[in-house]
Amino acid sequence: MNAIYSRSHPNNAVITNSNNNGVYKSYAVASTVNLKSKRISLTRTKAVKKEMTGCRLMGVGSCTPKLVLHNRDMEKFVNTTDEWICSRTGIRERHIIGRGETLTQLSINAAQRALEMAGVSAKDVDMIIMATSTPDDTFGNACQVQYGVGASKAVAFDLSAACSGFVVALNTAVQFIRTGSAHRILVIGADAMSRIIDWRDRSTCVLFGDGAGAVLLSASDCPEAVATKAPNSNSTAPSSSDCALLGMFMASDGQGHKSLKAVYAGEHEKPLQPDDVASGHASYKNVQMAGQEVYKFAVRTVPAALETALKRAELNKSDVDWLVMHQANQRIMDAAAARLNLAPTRVVSNLARYGNTSAASIPLALDEAVRDGRIQHGDVLAMVGFGAGLTWASAIVKWGKF
Ligand code: ACO
Repeated sequence: MNAIYSRSHPNNAVITNSNNNGVYKSYAVASTVNLKSKRISLTRTKAVKKEMTGCRLMGVGSCTPKLVLHNRDMEKFVNTTDEWICSRTGIRERHIIGRGETLTQLSINAAQRALEMAGVSAKDVDMIIMATSTPDDTFGNACQVQYGVGASKAVAFDLSAACSGFVVALNTAVQFIRTGSAHRILVIGADAMSRIIDWRDRSTCVLFGDGAGAVLLSASDCPEAVATKAPNSNSTAPSSSDCALLGMFMASDGQGHKSLKAVYAGEHEKPLQPDDVASGHASYKNVQMAGQEVYKFAVRTVPAALETALKRAELNKSDVDWLVMHQANQRIMDAAAARLNLAPTRVVSNLARYGNTSAASIPLALDEAVRDGRIQHGDVLAMVGFGAGLTWASAIVKWGKF
């Protein structure tokens, strides 16, 4: 039980007791409140139960650039082979943002597809959270997407957590819906990693691709989210709450920053000299990655993050229908699936065709699996992202209406 004492109203004390399903607020009017001596005597207590709002994932969409770069194309300008890339990563090709394309437009397209699937008008969206590390504008990209989709009533902001960005944004969005602060939220994961890659560095340039994905979250009492049991749902997992987010886990380790970074190239490394032009310092270095360290970090943290989220959801590994995780390396996905005792056919993987699209990779994979009918309403999905920061985050969610 937490006690929160209002300083602005020294005669009032609010005592809250929260659990997974709701917040119970007891508004207590105190006749004597002495914060210094922590002595409080209550004369009148009125108990009010405030239920948390449920949440549903109602729509998903994605968009990738037109240009496709196959491993064999890369053999022509960097010392690599299709065989090396396939066997070490599982990647065969990736989409690269080209002239006339923007991350904003990819994100708008993805968001519109998610809205269409959800049956929600952009005008009814009240928040947009865009996870990206490679925005069109370093001040933020979400507002341009807000304007582009016509979500005129939505507050829009960027969130930066590299390849964990989508899961962190999803977990963040759900908190706004649960507390009733927002009813319909677009969560976008979008990155153009090709912008921050050294195309001469074979240890990184073969790994990444560009793209955007979006999901539309609705409060469970919104008309489009009213529960209907989908006839062909094969989920047997118990429903531990009215919220699509059944359990989650998020973590960071700044000490590991050195193993994966794209740092500012300006004065903190080389102070400005009097004859320097400012624009010469307005840039960031390309991605620098200690591949094996990141690999070990991922294999260590990903299964643990999934197990913690499952425990918080009070579910077993056998309740998971699909693993929809960050697409960085097929070997990392296989290791996570083995730990969950999930058959390879239950792992959503499109890494071979897109490479690592950073914050976009999970919604991109989710979109394909929902649209081709693999993922059904009510299916339990295990999501996990990991990457620069270092950051890692997981979410156990139920898809669609249930
Ligand atoms: N083509 C051919 N050879 C290559 C290439 C390439 N593209 N890249 C590296 N090599 C060589 C290396 O030079 C090395 O050669 P050497 O033995 O002569 O020194 C050899 O291949 C082995 O290199 P390793 O780095 O040890 O290869 P590894 O098996 O570890 O695979 C990889 C590298 C694929 C990067 C792997 O470590 C990995 O997937 N790491 C995790 C990356 C990741 O998941 N990132 C996600 C986060 S991204 C984000 O947050 C933005």
